This record gives sequence, structure tokens and C-alpha cells, in this order.
Amino acid sequence: GLGIINIPVYIHIVYPNANTISDAQVNSQMATLNSDFRDINTDQLPSGTTFANDATDAGFSFSVAGVFRHNDSRSSWGTNDAIKAAYPPITPSTHMNIWVCEIGGGILGYAQFPGGSPATDGIVLGGDFFGNTGGNYGLGRTATHEVGHYLNLRHIWGDGRCRQDDFVADTPVSGASNGGCPTYPNVDCKTPDMTMNYMDYTYDACMYMFTDGQRNRMRALFANGGARSSMLN
Ligand code: ARG
Ligand code: ZN
Ligand code: CA
Repeated sequence: GLGIINIPVYIHIVYPNANTISDAQVNSQMATLNSDFRDINTDQLPSGTTFANDATDAGFSFSVAGVFRHNDSRSSWGTNDAIKAAYPPITPSTHMNIWVCEIGGGILGYAQFPGGSPATDGIVLGGDFFGNTGGNYGLGRTATHEVGHYLNLRHIWGDGRCRQDDFVADTPVSGASNGGCPTYPNVDCKTPDMTMNYMDYTYDACMYMFTDGQRNRMRALFANGGARSSMLN
């Protein structure tokens, strides 16, 4: 097997004062990624839910390969990849690139799915939601969610109604996104939604799992010929 897959990360911090995002904040984000993708996060699945035994070790680790700070007076970068044009990704075939900036518009983060242009490959995160920052989105799980997209995961509701698949067999169908911190069970489509999955839209403290099917979908990218297999060299 592939064992634990380590993904080296380049982090581009772009702020009027790039020291706004401290090394400690960077380290808190990396700690969250490393615990969430190994299922060693301390959050508990509620006993008695259908999903109590479904949280899995996805088998990824993340290491910082470089942090690049850029003082740049621009704010409200939006989601049109302007930041990637200004500060291009570094060797995206072998490294995951993360840009930390002020996105604006209440956007927490966004990611590019595998198979897209190398020039825009990576993840953009709002600095207010990067690492341990406090508040409802202050546990670093925006990055967990966006890395999920970067590794080919769809939203848990498939961005459609009950019959829309997320192409993962062991995540139940769901009719729409869930926000806040839903009380179990929240039923959209006859069976309870997996609102505690990282790929829903719930608060950071209320999402804490990937499934086996999601793990397999992510790791398939690294098999021979897979869209991110070049990262293993
Ligand atoms: N809205 C963003 C997206 O769809 C991120 C959602 C992150 N959720 C969170 N609880 N941090 O990619
Ligand atoms: Zn998303
Ligand atoms: Ca599913």
C-alpha cells in the first residue's frame, strides 16, 4: 500500500503586514490538518448516532516546505485566482500551495479540484479562518475542508438535492448543506445527514470526520496514473 502519504506544503502569506499571520498560527493550522487527516482529533462522535464508527484515518500527513511572506496592500482578493497570478504556485506537481490572505465577501476559503491548471493549483484561505483563531470557524477546519476538495472530495450533499451523489458510497445522500451545529438526527432525505463530516458546511467544532469511502477517493489520486501521483516522487 501507499502508507501514510506526506504532502509537502508551500504557504504564501499575503497581507499589508504579512507578519499578521504568525508562525504560531501557521503551526496551529498544520497541527489541525495533521490530526484531522489521521483521525487523531480529540472531537468525539456522539455515541448512539448512525455514524459513531464511521470516522476513519485518511492516512495523510502535511509538512511545511516553506513559508513566504509578502507585504501587499491589496485586500479583498476574491475567488478569481488573482492572488495566484500575483504570487504563482511553486512546483504544484510535487507540493500543495496554500495562499493566506483577505478574500473578502465572507468567504472562508476555496480550492481547485485535481486535474486543473497547474498555474492555479492549490488552496486559498482567509487569514481569519487559518489555524486557531477563535469563533465558529476558528479551529482550522476550513483548511481541512479545502484540502478535501484539493484531494477530489465533493460536498457531502453533492451540491444538489437528495438524488445528487458525491461519488462516495458510504456518505448518505443529503438534500442541502447544513450550517451551525445541528442536533442529531437532521434528516433531509429519509436517513440522517452526516452533518459532522468535514465536507458539510457546519461550524468547525461540529465537523470532525472523513469516511472510508472519502479516504479511498482521496488516496486513489496517488495510485499509478492518478491525478496527484506526481507528488509521491
Ligand atoms: N465555504 C467553503 C467551501 O465550500 C468552506 C467551508 C468551510 N467550513 C468550515 N466549517 N470551516 O469551500
Ligand atoms: Zn467546499
Ligand atoms: Ca454518498
